[in-house]
Amino acid sequence: MVNNSVPSLKLNNGLQIPIVGLGTYARKAEPEQFQQAVEWGIDAGYRHIDTASCYNNEESVGAGIANKIKEGIVKREDLFVTTKLWNDKHAQNDVVPTLKSQLARLQLNYVDLYLIHWPVSVNDKGEDTAIDYLETWKGMEETVKLGLAKSIGVSNFNKEQLQRLLQHASIKPTVNQFEISPTMTQYELVDFCKSQSVVSVAYTPLGLISEARPEFEKYASIKNDPKIKAIAEKHGKSLAQIGLRYLVQRGIPVVPKSFTRSRIQDNINLFDFQLTEDEMTVVDNFNLNLRCVPATQFEKYTYFPFH
Ligand SMILES: NC(=O)c1ccc[n+]([C@@H]2O[C@H](COP(=O)([O-])OP(=O)(O)OC[C@H]3O[C@@H](n4cnc5c(N)ncnc54)[C@H](OP(=O)(O)O)[C@@H]3O)[C@@H](O)[C@H]2O)c1
Repeated sequence: MVNNSVPSLKLNNGLQIPIVGLGTYARKAEPEQFQQAVEWGIDAGYRHIDTASCYNNEESVGAGIANKIKEGIVKREDLFVTTKLWNDKHAQNDVVPTLKSQLARLQLNYVDLYLIHWPVSVNDKGEDTAIDYLETWKGMEETVKLGLAKSIGVSNFNKEQLQRLLQHASIKPTVNQFEISPTMTQYELVDFCKSQSVVSVAYTPLGLISEARPEFEKYASIKNDPKIKAIAEKHGKSLAQIGLRYLVQRGIPVVPKSFTRSRIQDNINLFDFQLTEDEMTVVDNFNLNLRCVPATQFEKYTYFPFH
């Protein structure tokens, strides 16, 4: 089943980002699983793929893309590929060579979007190096000038960090990618980004309504809540589809990850129904302000964003 009806949003540089992308992070997986997911994703109609240097899967993601281009299913220009700069490459002069090696792994000449993964910087032992992200941004701007990235942005930046970057940037960030879901609704940061023409992209978009968060077992009852089950039943959709549709309807691109073919297909099948205002409010009320990705390992670092 191919989904050809996925809308795009315009970035502040005039380029377009498809509102559904395929996430590719997995704590433990075989290289073939990433490649397979990307190939199933492209077959299902995904044209936006989200990876990162620290996912250690850029070769597999690149191989999946290359296969689908070779098969004639897509052309490079049909795809929107995002990757991210890891925290140990924040020195300005590291950015361009780092992206060049990521592009080699991805078998691409450019990425559509390059993100600073976190505002924190570390050395190769993982210790805080307190490199100012304004310095890193200068390297990010060079990647655009060299044609290695079409658009640049950030991830996990809080309001103050983004505001400070916007005041100093020559090329404006197009995107802030951060955790947004029915259980982490993030209205304040999303509204701030909107006011600055920065697109908020939702990672971990399923939050605690997906089945895969054993560490949050005490919230497992959300999945059996009669209010959200009734909405899903009314529309003939799964809870995951209701959660993703809720974000898309708020104008937020989502990058759900799955290794399961039927879920990959379901997660992009969001455009033949609409939630009513009341249903949006019901989903809003699942907000717990609880991060699935608290990144507490960086808590004491100079540029930790989640205080
Ligand atoms: N910028 C950042 O710092 C950052 C941080 C975290 C994530 N991300 C990006 O965001 C992507 C998504 O986040 P995530 O992987 O943390 O979480 P997610 O996409 O919200 O959830 C993924 C989990 O939900 C399951 N799932 C997927 N579709 C489902 C469905 N339809 N029904 C039930 N369960 C479903 C998957 O299981 P199966 O695979 O077994 O199907 C997987 O275990 C990542 O892959 C990555 O690309 C970025």
